[in-house]
Amino acid sequence: MIYLDNAATTYPKPRDVVEAVSDCILRIGGNPGRGAHAASLRAAEAVYDARCEVADFLGVSDPASIIFTPNATFALNLAISCRVRCGDHILISDREHNAAFRPVVRLMETGIADYSVYSGSGDVLANIRKKETKRTSILICNPVSNVTGNYLPIREIAAYAKARGFYLILDGAQWIGHGAPDRDVVGLADAIAVPGHKALYGMQGSGFLYLKSAEGNAPFLLGGSGSDSANPDMPETLPERYEAGTLSTPAIVSLAAGIRFIRRFGVERISEREARLSNYARESMSRIKGVTLYGNETNGSPVLSFRVKDVPPEETARRLDRAGIAVRAGLHCAPLIHRALGTFPEGTVRASFGIFNTEDDVDALVSALSKQSNI
Ligand code: ALA
Repeated sequence: MIYLDNAATTYPKPRDVVEAVSDCILRIGGNPGRGAHAASLRAAEAVYDARCEVADFLGVSDPASIIFTPNATFALNLAISCRVRCGDHILISDREHNAAFRPVVRLMETGIADYSVYSGSGDVLANIRKKETKRTSILICNPVSNVTGNYLPIREIAAYAKARGFYLILDGAQWIGHGAPDRDVVGLADAIAVPGHKALYGMQGSGFLYLKSAEGNAPFLLGGSGSDSANPDMPETLPERYEAGTLSTPAIVSLAAGIRFIRRFGVERISEREARLSNYARESMSRIKGVTLYGNETNGSPVLSFRVKDVPPEETARRLDRAGIAVRAGLHCAPLIHRALGTFPEGTVRASFGIFNTEDDVDALVSALSKQSNI
């Protein structure tokens, strides 16, 4: 199989990641932070080491600001829910995934907060200004669309959010790991949600929220924290305040191993390689009659959306699957951008490349599509 669905989850995983998980299950064994015996201490140490690895990769000084979560969706729900106050107005871009959009819609439906959607096309800062109200307090932004791979001007947006005093929540799902994290942007963000199983090459069930501070934020999930147990509330300290319940040590270990893998490979090398592949794919596919590509021409991101004339995206994906090529079709859980692109409700077909893909994989996709567009 030629796997071109890396924006959904990267596959295959590096051998180092598989071995780290296996070693964790076989040798580490205990529940982190829940005992003083050797197995629990080994697990706590593995989790702490992973926290340091993530913080160092992101360029933040305090490992305690890394809250481990099962995925980016959990991290976004956590960031939004623990911050929002009654009467808040939230700004979200039309690039958002349902992981950010649905929690915000729910806040509106329950009368807690309302929201406006700003367009990620054209002059984005002007679009934001147009939607601001006196009550705007949170700005949510997805720096890289999981549908088109297009980048928003995230430096400008982050600087603007800070200048206006907005609480800035970033969805790092298609951003963190594709090249070195932009430390200036990270420094301006209040919260960044990141999956471990995409560009960081960890296993599914891994992820984290970078949270600059716990100040003014309520807990999200309540339960055992392994510390301050006589307190009927969650501890005040990070990361314990937001990590109720047993953590998945194997998932966390896999995330750290994935980060070590991409750092050894070279994050700059990854982004160059991804840009080369996606530009090659875009160029080759633009020559196929009946294929429409979406997004900017040279965005450098390894995500490419397209449609074949008169063939529903799901059908194109089925045909590609029969040809041994795995892609994703539909709305990609991001309905707003499809309305902006004019591809709602069928969506698009999406090919997304990872570190293990080559030009040969792109050639196979182009060849299969060329045959299909003649069907
Ligand atoms: N959010 C993932 C995607 O874009 C699952 O496919």
